[in-house]
Amino acid sequence: MVKRVKTVPSNHLTFFIITLFLFFTNVVSEAQSIIIDQPTPQLNTSFNLTTTTTSPSSSSLSSSCSYRVSIKTSCSSTSFTRDRISLAFGDFYHNEVYAARLDNPSSRTFERCSTDTFQISGSCMYQICYLYLLRTGSDGWKPEYVKIYTPNYGAVTYKFNSWVPNGVWFGFDSCTTTSASMLSSA
Ligand SMILES: *[C@@H]1O[C@H](CO)[C@@H](O)[C@H](O)[C@H]1NC(C)=O
Ligand SMILES: *[C@@H]1O[C@H](CO)[C@@H](O)[C@H](O)[C@H]1NC(C)=O
Repeated sequence: MVKRVKTVPSNHLTFFIITLFLFFTNVVSEAQSIIIDQPTPQLNTSFNLTTTTTSPSSSSLSSSCSYRVSIKTSCSSTSFTRDRISLAFGDFYHNEVYAARLDNPSSRTFERCSTDTFQISGSCMYQICYLYLLRTGSDGWKPEYVKIYTPNYGAVTYKFNSWVPNGVWFGFDSCTTTSASMLSSA
């Protein structure tokens, strides 16, 4: 026979406090993950392509690596775009990969709701800490995310979910914030 235990009011209170505590820690951790995992893409008018890799650390890297890049075009983008789309990404030392043109009107890249995958080779690098897109044209384009599969550092996803402005590099740079942890782990 199961005996029903009468709950004393203090247990109610404890339960209430725990619930309240869990609720708030949940809210706080959710708010933190929004700030940390979901930065918004920014314009960078001073972004320049790296012309030469002069970083001393690049000598320890092999010169050619292959990256698979998946780009999902938002379902609220234009039905297709004829704009020119360039991509650049790199690490703390500006080991950089640049793709001058990802678009290809004849093969209908960047259609609304579609995912386009590219194989890009370029400099090898440490952990990616910046990624920018450049759009030139008048159709407009709204990517949902750019995901890069690196040979040595796994995959990294940059969430855009925004219209890319015309003629200015637009994206993410967290190199200064990741530099501290990079240095401490080195
Ligand atoms: C980018 O290049 C221009 C000229 O080519 C130069 O004036 C500017 O200082 C450079 N910006 C950065 C952030 O290196
Ligand atoms: C823009 O890019 C340059 C590198 O070319 C970088 O030093 C700078 O921090 C970036 N600015 C922002 C706001 O991310």
